[in-house]
Amino acid sequence: MTDLAQIEEKIAEYAAKGYEVPTKDMIKTPEEIIGIRRASKINTAVLDAVAAKIKAGMSTDDINTIVHESTLAHGAIPAPLNYEGFPKSVCTSVNEEICHGIPSSNVILKSGDIVNVDVTTLYDGFYGDASRMFMIGKVTPQKKNLVLITKECLRRGVEASQPWHFIGDIGAAVSAFAHKHGYSVVREFGGHGVGLQMHEEPFISHVGKKNTGMLLVPGMVFTIEPMINMGRPELYVDSANDWTALTEDGKPSAQWEHTILITESGNEILTY
Ligand code: MF3
Ligand code: CO
Ligand code: CO
Repeated sequence: MTDLAQIEEKIAEYAAKGYEVPTKDMIKTPEEIIGIRRASKINTAVLDAVAAKIKAGMSTDDINTIVHESTLAHGAIPAPLNYEGFPKSVCTSVNEEICHGIPSSNVILKSGDIVNVDVTTLYDGFYGDASRMFMIGKVTPQKKNLVLITKECLRRGVEASQPWHFIGDIGAAVSAFAHKHGYSVVREFGGHGVGLQMHEEPFISHVGKKNTGMLLVPGMVFTIEPMINMGRPELYVDSANDWTALTEDGKPSAQWEHTILITESGNEILTY
């Protein structure tokens, strides 16, 4: 029996027992995985290009230029540009901005800022998606802690992403660690299937209960991208652009994101 036939049989067994299982399109073929891996490698190179240049005095539109030009230099397309009307090639979310910040020549990075740069790359029909936090100049110990704890939340979410375990395990691991440090977890946005589209099913909540939700199966590709707030979890969307999500209490928020593949023995981070 082929690996895939074995996997399908096992999925059918879980489904028969009443578990929520992935649909066929949530399980990528070996050829699709090669394509997603290529797009993800370019995505990482683009984030590396940002990392090499980002500094105080730069505008978030300068980051957009780096992302746009670096992506094109790799023969790829910056997926956010014109996605559902998004006007730029990358999301840049500063301090109390949670996600979907729009690059602007009026937003100048200054010492003490923390900024999320979220890059999504389309190459040869396949998508990779990842984001990192950057600390500009001298940031407060409180902000630095938020950034590092959020990175560890992502690592724990990845660690919980095991074949024949459950999506709820991911949110359980992320939220337990965030709460332990006195932080809150954003609920309105989460990780997502990715590969043939920028956003696919399933939704990956960063709050969850162990052994609940959809079964994780080898061949699934999705993002984990916890948004962790220093204060309260509530958010609002900037009515001036209908995109940028900000913390209601004005306190800082951090986010890190990877695209991962569930394998037969564990997982692989495609956006390393
Ligand atoms: N990269 C984001 C994510 O992690 C989505 C970008 S939305 C866009 O899901 F409109 F900016 F493209
Ligand atoms: Co992203
Ligand atoms: Co994403």
